[in-house]
Amino acid sequence: MLTKTVFLLLVGLATVALCATTLSQPRRSTRRRPTQTSEVPSNTIKAEMAHCQPEKKTVELDLPQEYGTVFFPTCVRVEQCGGCCGHPLLTCRPSSTKTVTYEVTKTTADNISSPYYVNVTKHLKCEEVCLETEQDCTPSQIYDENNCECICENEEQRQACQKSQDKLWDKDSCTCKCRKNDDKCSTGQSFSQESCTCDDLYQGVTAWTMLSRTVPRCDGLDHVVTDRTKV
Ligand SMILES: *[C@@H]1O[C@H](CO)[C@@H](O)[C@H](O)[C@H]1NC(C)=O
Ligand SMILES: *[C@@H]1O[C@H](CO)[C@@H](O)[C@H](O)[C@H]1NC(C)=O
Repeated sequence: MLTKTVFLLLVGLATVALCATTLSQPRRSTRRRPTQTSEVPSNTIKAEMAHCQPEKKTVELDLPQEYGTVFFPTCVRVEQCGGCCGHPLLTCRPSSTKTVTYEVTKTTADNISSPYYVNVTKHLKCEEVCLETEQDCTPSQIYDENNCECICENEEQRQACQKSQDKLWDKDSCTCKCRKNDDKCSTGQSFSQESCTCDDLYQGVTAWTMLSRTVPRCDGLDHVVTDRTKV
């Protein structure tokens, strides 16, 4: 009886000790991404960057569409720039090219075959250049050569715009615009790009009337005129 009690006590202590160790261990394993070790196929190859350089590409020949006329072949493989760049703002473009003239066979409806010549541009050298160029900028933007992008000069306005909940910055026009452009304002109201709400139209009219009347006569008559325009 005593031995059994001692045994149970020992088992209990061991369990507590085990739980304590488990709990004190940092739970790093649950946060780590699962390793793929078990699923890797044997024919796996180490990926190599497809650098920006001329590579064989299939190019559709620029042939005329003529009724009853057949050209052969209609496409060729020619070296042109391909591959990817180290940064999403860069692109692979040719820096040196050469015109290659290909001879194809032109067969007309009356079965007469003749040689036909067509030009294709072959790329000799490629370079990584900015994807966005100065030509892509809108009239309100300026080109930032170092960062390969068109930017707005009015940076303070952009920051102020981003603080406003009702408005969004329009990168193309470099202006702050309302998130919603509500054209469903009720009669007598118009949407204000300033407040981003439907504003009463006659407020503007009243202000104009008061302005034009107040200047020549300040005898209280202008008050009557303003009231009439509101109706
Ligand atoms: C053209 O040649 C093919 C065989 O080469 C023949 O079947 C066809 O009838 C010819 N067409 C004409 C218009 O001569
Ligand atoms: C093809 O290119 C050559 C120069 O390499 C030029 O003389 C010729 O006119 C071009 N032909 C066509 C159809 O554009």
